[in-house]
Amino acid sequence: MNQPAQQKQTILVVDDTPANIGVLVDFLEENQLRVLVAQDGEEALERSRLMQPDLVLLDVMMPGIDGLETCRRLKQDSSTAQIPVIFMTALTDSDSVVAAFDAGGVDYVTKPIQIAEVLARIQTHLALRAMHSQLEVQNRLLQQANDRLLQAEKMASIGQLAAGVAHEINNPIGFVNSNMGTLQTYVATLFGVIDTYEQAAVAAPEVAARIAALKAAAEVDFIREDVDALMSESRDGLLRVKEIVQSLKDFSHVESSGFGPADLHRGIDSTLNIVGNEIKYKAQVVKQYGDLPMVMCAAPQLNQVFMNLLINAAHAIAVMGVITIRTGWAGQWVWIEISDTGSGMQPDTLQRIFEPFYTTKPVGTGTGLGLSVSYGIVKRHGGRIDVHSELGKGSRFTVHLPVDPGARDAGMPSALPAHPAEGALP
Ligand SMILES: Nc1ncnc2c1ncn2[C@@H]1O[C@H](COP(=O)(O)OP(=O)(O)OP(=O)(O)O)[C@@H](O)[C@H]1O
Ligand SMILES: [Mg+2]
Repeated sequence: MNQPAQQKQTILVVDDTPANIGVLVDFLEENQLRVLVAQDGEEALERSRLMQPDLVLLDVMMPGIDGLETCRRLKQDSSTAQIPVIFMTALTDSDSVVAAFDAGGVDYVTKPIQIAEVLARIQTHLALRAMHSQLEVQNRLLQQANDRLLQAEKMASIGQLAAGVAHEINNPIGFVNSNMGTLQTYVATLFGVIDTYEQAAVAAPEVAARIAALKAAAEVDFIREDVDALMSESRDGLLRVKEIVQSLKDFSHVESSGFGPADLHRGIDSTLNIVGNEIKYKAQVVKQYGDLPMVMCAAPQLNQVFMNLLINAAHAIAVMGVITIRTGWAGQWVWIEISDTGSGMQPDTLQRIFEPFYTTKPVGTGTGLGLSVSYGIVKRHGGRIDVHSELGKGSRFTVHLPVDPGARDAGMPSALPAHPAEGALP
């Protein structure tokens, strides 16, 4: 591997008699390695922690803590545990060799040192280490891709279920709604008939008295009042069911019509105007807008996403906190991040937040549809929502969207460059 000069790999050579290793150090440096030297175990531990060498070449026999103990301590410290250690030893009996491996060494070279052999072993272990870290990175990427696939699969099947439920509920809601209208007319007619009887009976006091008694016994006046209240409550209830059905439909399929170029900052600002009252007693809103191009999208739907995220952020804040809105643009993708200094979430909550009807809010407060609807909308824009949350610290929702969902070369959202807020919460 050809390394540019500034990326030379660093070897820490540990030996109590530097004169012994002068030739070795020169030889390693001639072979494009950067060499650090430590004269005892303590110094080796400290330099390893500070300088993070790529490999340690460690003498076994040293005054103070010997090489084996130094190696054990390197392996116990998480900041140095990954650094491979090669021992330099004069002892080649089986017990000594086993002790070296037991202490955490990856290899050993025997004294007197053969410098060409040392270099060969160093290069082998550096290459192994490089491969190991490359594998780790790839493993992590694979794991992320796998998690994303599983999540997408799960959401797709929940989407189908939601669409089915919405369809099934829609029909009965339709006829119950229409029957309610008819019922109201019938009730009005019946009351009209009662009134007419009453008026007609004025001429016959005996009949009038019977009608009055019957009316009192049946509490007709109370029923007349209560019927109106019952009707209007039932209509409210129906309206809520209709909204839920609409949300389920939105979650499972949104007509992709209505796509056009939009300024997302304007969308966020207008959404902030709408939810301003809900937020202002809970949080100070900090806007850190970057540069955004016009994005091809269904703007009202994205505004719904921003609204859900902003309201959730405000709900997560108990007293007074901060909601930060940041935006940015990288190549074919834009991102909008809404973070809060609220309660944060438990890992098992985090697993489920995009499921329809999943809510941790008290009954009657949240329906648990906000994020599932948002998920559906963003997905149909070809984007994705990332969440990072720390219990007690807050949450960060990042919506990634392709600038033009129709363009086939936008690539996968996973190819996104990290944005500056990747990592710890503010
Ligand atoms: N910013 C946040 N901080 C902490 N928890 C959150 C945050 N956003 C969402 N959650 C959690 O995710 C759950 C689901 O959110 P979602 O918006 O889907 O439903 P909801 O807010 O409970 O109800 P609604 O349907 O009214 O939006 C919430 O109940 C809450 O537990
Ligand atoms: Mg919500």
